[in-house]
Amino acid sequence: MAETFAVKLEERCYYPDPRCKAAAWTPDYTRAYSEFLHDPDGFWDQVARELDWFEPWDRVKEWNYPYAKWFVNGRLNIAYNCLDRHVTGGRRDKPAIIWHAESGEQQVLTYEALHHEVMRFANGLSSLGVGKGERVCIYMPLVPEQIVAMLACARLGAVHSVVFGGFGADALAMRINDADAKVLVTADVGYRRGKTIPLREIVNDALTRTPCVEKTVVLRREIPAADLDPAREVDYAELVARAAPDCPAVSMDSEDPLFILYTSGSTGAPKGIVHTCGGYMVGTYYTARHDFDIKETDVLWCTADPGWITGHSYIVYGPLAVGTTVVIAEGTPDYPDPGAYWQLVQDLGVTIFYTAPTAIRMFMRYGAEWPAKYDLSSLRVLGSVGEPLNPEAFEWYYHAIGGGRCPIVDTWWQTETGMHMITTMIGEPMRPGFAGKPIPGAVVDVVDRRGNPVPPGTGGFLVIKEPWPSMLRTVHGNDERYRTYWNTIPGCYTAGDLAVKDEEGYIMVLGRADDLIVVAGHNIGTAEVESALVSHEAVAEAAVIGKPDALKGNVIKAFVTLRVGATPGDGLVDELTRHVKKSLGPVAVPAEIEFMDRLPKTRSGKIMRRVLKARELGMDPGDISTLEE
Ligand code: WT7
Repeated sequence: MAETFAVKLEERCYYPDPRCKAAAWTPDYTRAYSEFLHDPDGFWDQVARELDWFEPWDRVKEWNYPYAKWFVNGRLNIAYNCLDRHVTGGRRDKPAIIWHAESGEQQVLTYEALHHEVMRFANGLSSLGVGKGERVCIYMPLVPEQIVAMLACARLGAVHSVVFGGFGADALAMRINDADAKVLVTADVGYRRGKTIPLREIVNDALTRTPCVEKTVVLRREIPAADLDPAREVDYAELVARAAPDCPAVSMDSEDPLFILYTSGSTGAPKGIVHTCGGYMVGTYYTARHDFDIKETDVLWCTADPGWITGHSYIVYGPLAVGTTVVIAEGTPDYPDPGAYWQLVQDLGVTIFYTAPTAIRMFMRYGAEWPAKYDLSSLRVLGSVGEPLNPEAFEWYYHAIGGGRCPIVDTWWQTETGMHMITTMIGEPMRPGFAGKPIPGAVVDVVDRRGNPVPPGTGGFLVIKEPWPSMLRTVHGNDERYRTYWNTIPGCYTAGDLAVKDEEGYIMVLGRADDLIVVAGHNIGTAEVESALVSHEAVAEAAVIGKPDALKGNVIKAFVTLRVGATPGDGLVDELTRHVKKSLGPVAVPAEIEFMDRLPKTRSGKIMRRVLKARELGMDPGDISTLEE
């Protein structure tokens, strides 16, 4: 690990409309945070009481470093909280899920309808021998049945492992085997950019090396039932049709596992992150409600796939535990044209929109004229997650999408944290480039390698200093890997990110610690140089790597994609070089700039610098099962 280093901080600041602050669930962040610090267990105890439990907990937490238990001996069912609680509590006819297909087809499931679907499918799964504690792999396109399958597992106490439908056969087989899944739930096809993705072929390939799978449930969208192989395949529709309608929710211990989810693996081989029932429910419920400020009439669209943690926590469990209406869309942001998302925001009256910087930069590349064609006045809150939101992208999002009206919550968190840990709570002043401050409920800091806090303006390691309810409990089959998170820096959970704080405690995330480049003895974060490049009007996206250099140790090489209308060439290379020099100084200037049509990314949209680096140095790129096609 590198030493700490100095960072030049952005000073722009946006002041939100005081009305949104007054009306927010957390109207006074500073006060809420100090109340939490004063009595952390009391804080979470109160949140947990807003949900339904079959048995109350004895203690809020038990901390036996590095192992935590939350809501000890409490009993609950998260699917019960996402469904039954609303059906009996006045939300029976409220839309829970609005699904939009690429073809334009739409389906609305009310809380009552979703409840019924989930109970029938849960009964179907149990007829296949799935019970509490057993693992079910879900490999589906973005259809309501994907969410139904997750909630059905939760209802039965089975542990789901959702694998994003864009992964290939090797990635799928590895995850099935690692989790030792007994049943696989899938579909024959998915649709993307007008093309058909043959999921069943991929599954059949993976199944040649997954002896643990006994049955595969197939949601048929194209093939006739007669095509299924009765020895190993089960028709989704038939399974549901013959299942009994009622299925009681199994009473789970707080600490029973809820799901395993493999991390996107932008750094090496995937790890099966394990989350448990009670703490995960409380953490995602609280952050969904407070960070997005969800009110009864809101319509939330989180553009992730339920196959990522973002989808688990902020499409499925958090928002449904709150009882909100969730939009899901199968397809891509720029198909059939770059206005597709904005059309949907307009037509469905989306009020809370949550997406990733990679998508925002893509929209920037197409230009503000696309969103300008639509009425986006329903939007009230904008969110970002997954990578640092470059100041330039922040500005664009704020003006071109939010009309200068909507607060932006840039949420920092991880598969491992299960819930948001840092953001700028609604109503607080926003600083482009900074995710914000720790949310009430989280104790986050920037420290040196011995765990001592570093002063403002000095970069260091982003750590979490106290356990939180929705923290990972282990890495499936590799508890030692779990302990590494807590053993690297004494007393802290090490997130693996570099960050810097300003005088007021705002945190800027600089990127993964392994993305740091040491040039002539100076530490340079890839994210800083990338943000400087992206702030140039010709640049859409940038990825920066370090290249070994005899003289300087490393030099910076930048890979750049351009906005529509910009022309690559030596002239632009010179201009970009001058541009970075002006904003970051000579030490951060790329020695080489290469123009590309697209950058290698993980399927969740993170730039894979490792792949660029391997290509540049003629090395083996390592595990690339998460690379986008
Ligand atoms: C890593 C976790 C958690 C949702 C999706 C990704 C990066 C995440 C931000 C943000 C800067 C961010 C970090 C983190 N990251 N959100 N708002 N600003 N960086 O989950 O695949 O587990 O990745 O994503 O590097 O460690 P994940």
